[in-house]
Amino acid sequence: MANKPLSGYKVLDMTQFESGTVCTEALAWLGAEVYKVERPGRGELGRRGVAEPDKDTYGFLIMNMNKKSITCNAKDPEGLKLLEALVKECDVVVENMGPGSMDKLGLTYEHCKELNPGIIYASLKGFSQVGPYANYPAFDPIATHTGVMVSATGLPEQPIKCGISVADSGTGTMLAMSIITALLHRERFGVGQRVDIAMQDFMIGLSRSQWEPYYANGRVPNRRVANGMPLEDVAPSDTYPCKPYGVNDYVHIYCSRAPGSKQWDNLCEAIGRPDLKQENCPEMSTPRERFKHRDICDNAIKEWLKDHDKFEAMDILCKADVPAGALLDVNDITNDPQYIERGMMVDIEHPQRGKVRVPGFAPKFSEVEIEYKCSPELGGSNEEVYGGLLGLSPEKLAELKEKKVI
Ligand SMILES: CC(C)(COP(=O)(O)OP(=O)(O)OC[C@H]1O[C@@H](n2cnc3c(N)ncnc32)[C@H](O)[C@@H]1OP(=O)(O)O)[C@@H](O)C(=O)NCCC(=O)NCCS
Repeated sequence: MANKPLSGYKVLDMTQFESGTVCTEALAWLGAEVYKVERPGRGELGRRGVAEPDKDTYGFLIMNMNKKSITCNAKDPEGLKLLEALVKECDVVVENMGPGSMDKLGLTYEHCKELNPGIIYASLKGFSQVGPYANYPAFDPIATHTGVMVSATGLPEQPIKCGISVADSGTGTMLAMSIITALLHRERFGVGQRVDIAMQDFMIGLSRSQWEPYYANGRVPNRRVANGMPLEDVAPSDTYPCKPYGVNDYVHIYCSRAPGSKQWDNLCEAIGRPDLKQENCPEMSTPRERFKHRDICDNAIKEWLKDHDKFEAMDILCKADVPAGALLDVNDITNDPQYIERGMMVDIEHPQRGKVRVPGFAPKFSEVEIEYKCSPELGGSNEEVYGGLLGLSPEKLAELKEKKVI
């Protein structure tokens, strides 16, 4: 891993499930040496599922690439000693255990700082570690509900949560950014620090645009508008069904609400309805007028979509300078060569699962090539880390294994 942005940095990774693991995976993709600490025998909580208890889940495989796995029973005094020795060797500790669990293990920030004054100690929790919710556990939907987002999504009478784990992966990604910032800060000013992120706080930040209608509409709760535009009444702004009307055959079309925008007129030309252009049709003359008469606007679009599938519709409309997005699902993305070429989908070889095509790292750098390595086998780096980094003898390793400490 020479010449990677984070090469040489060592990370003690005590993360589990999605939020924490995507954070350390990003650090590993950028070249950090990530030691994933797992319970002997069963691994971290997300490694094995109920359906196939002897195999790593696909989720584990997707979120733990490029890491090294070591096993350690942190609740055994000898296991704790191993972790303390690793804290001395590492630059960063990352954890997303339930509230109080790291303290119970004895691995508090204060203790880690005593062991290694320059340590960067990063915690990810559901809620702020001070305040009324400090001891509450949280999974993704808890954070999306308590962090504004679900109040804004769904139907007027029915809030609906998002189908992907925005709070988990989003918070983990922001934690990775924060850890890199803390490393930079340590390089410039010589001090380590604690980094503390809460999923609720991250979601509040992600929901910032909701404060615009809140203030504009007199500080009343914001409306939910299904697939419409939440900030203002504008049309077209919807997810429209199209040929051949399967479960994901939709295209979202949105024309700018900015005064003077030509996008609606462009759309009218593209769908063969110049009679509906702003100058030709008073009901279609502004975004708000179109919203008031959206049956006219929506019916014209729906009629046109009877002859076009989502890919064609997106292609024709975007080329006419009308923002339109086909509803692309996992199957569409996995099987489209464009994403392989872009490096957004990558093929990895997993010992239990064979060749698996998975999403890669979104940012692309001109001077950094991301190399993708398969998620680690449970305890696959015990010898390298305990023997190599900590200098334990093969006999000691065998003894620790026998006692199920590792
Ligand atoms: C996600 C969450 C609700 C799961 O709760 P949970 O299943 O009860 O798991 P916890 O993390 O609370 O507890 C794990 C236990 O395993 C223990 N453990 C973890 N690694 C261990 C190891 N290597 N050796 C021994 N014990 C270990 C912990 O010490 C803890 O023990 P405790 O309950 O006695 O304190 C909780 O971890 C949480 O709120 N995390 C923060 C928010 C978050 O990241 N949520 C999203 C996850 S995608």
